[in-house]
Amino acid sequence: MVRVEDLTMVYDEKAGPVLDKVSLSVSEGDIHGIIGRSGAGKSTLVRCLNRLVVPTSGRIEVSGHDITTLSPGATLRSARRDIGMIFQHFSLMSSRTAAGNIALPLEIAGVPKEEIRKRIPVLLDLVGLSNKADAYPVELSGGQKQRVGIARALALDPKVLLSDEATSALDPETTEQILSLLKDINRRLGLTIILITHEMDVVRAIASHVTVLEHGRVVESGPTFDVFAFPKSPVARSFLSSIVAHELPPQVAARLQPEPSGETAPVIRIIFTGDAAEEPVIADLAVKFGIRASILHGRIDYIDERPLGILTLLLPEVGDRLPAVLAHLSSLGLHGEVIGHAVRSSAAGTRRAAS
Ligand SMILES: Nc1ncnc2c1ncn2[C@@H]1O[C@H](COP(=O)(O)OP(=O)(O)O)[C@@H](O)[C@H]1O
Ligand SMILES: [Mg+2]
Repeated sequence: MVRVEDLTMVYDEKAGPVLDKVSLSVSEGDIHGIIGRSGAGKSTLVRCLNRLVVPTSGRIEVSGHDITTLSPGATLRSARRDIGMIFQHFSLMSSRTAAGNIALPLEIAGVPKEEIRKRIPVLLDLVGLSNKADAYPVELSGGQKQRVGIARALALDPKVLLSDEATSALDPETTEQILSLLKDINRRLGLTIILITHEMDVVRAIASHVTVLEHGRVVESGPTFDVFAFPKSPVARSFLSSIVAHELPPQVAARLQPEPSGETAPVIRIIFTGDAAEEPVIADLAVKFGIRASILHGRIDYIDERPLGILTLLLPEVGDRLPAVLAHLSSLGLHGEVIGHAVRSSAAGTRRAAS
């Protein structure tokens, strides 16, 4: 549905490229999150996608149209109709009612009055605002204003909905409601959605795919679950730290040493995905290897409705059986890796001695 190839945008030669050979593709019906810190180039990418700016080089195809080469005119206008936009600050006209705001793009496109009159209630119903047709923006809450924004964006039946930080100005509860509305519309209409955000929670809530941008470059791109389970870049890891336990709490991290010493035992991280999430790993270590593993940290989350567990274990008395332990985990379909070495806490040792 959307294909971006080697997209480069240079505003200022001295400052260097703001987008640097960005490539990504979005299939029909996907909800594709694009996440990056402030300044990563997200808004520039949005402006290229809806052709508010012409990129320095590269290609963008939306629903089969190469929008980078279209010259202003009828074809560009029709290509633009394929993309609906919603914004952080809603951008509603204060002098128009909810119905009037939704009618605006239809009026501009020259849709006959009678047809507009029929279309408005359908759109209001789609976003759950049937009783607010005559309300002005000042009479609406933030969430309701964004619902009007969504209805307006969908008025011309776009193929892709582009959302630039559409929930960033909303409180967490309203954010959740707007995200579930977007997911619902995605399911009911098969609408492709591109979600630009700086919040991993937004991606986690509804995105099937995610691309991580850093300094104008794509540092990861793929199914959300895969990126959450096996992030390759430090940026993705840090975005994920509030959601998935890839990064250890500082108290635990401070105990890790890169190299073993006489006092330490290996610390392993096990990543459980899908069906393997329910393997009885701790019991297996005890029964098969006689290892009394200590849990240093652990968490199970649901990403795209699939379980993702990350467990950090200290393995005392493992000795030279470590490769066998890792091989056993791998035979269960679990990913295990040694992330460091730590001394067992003295409290645990004392309790054991006492018993
Ligand atoms: N019109 C412009 N002219 C020059 N530099 C710009 C322009 N728009 C954005 N930039 C620069 O591009 C970089 C990326 O900005 P932006 O695309 O807004 O990032 P994001 O939306 O991820 O915060 C920033 O360093 C910004 O200063
Ligand atoms: Mg921005």
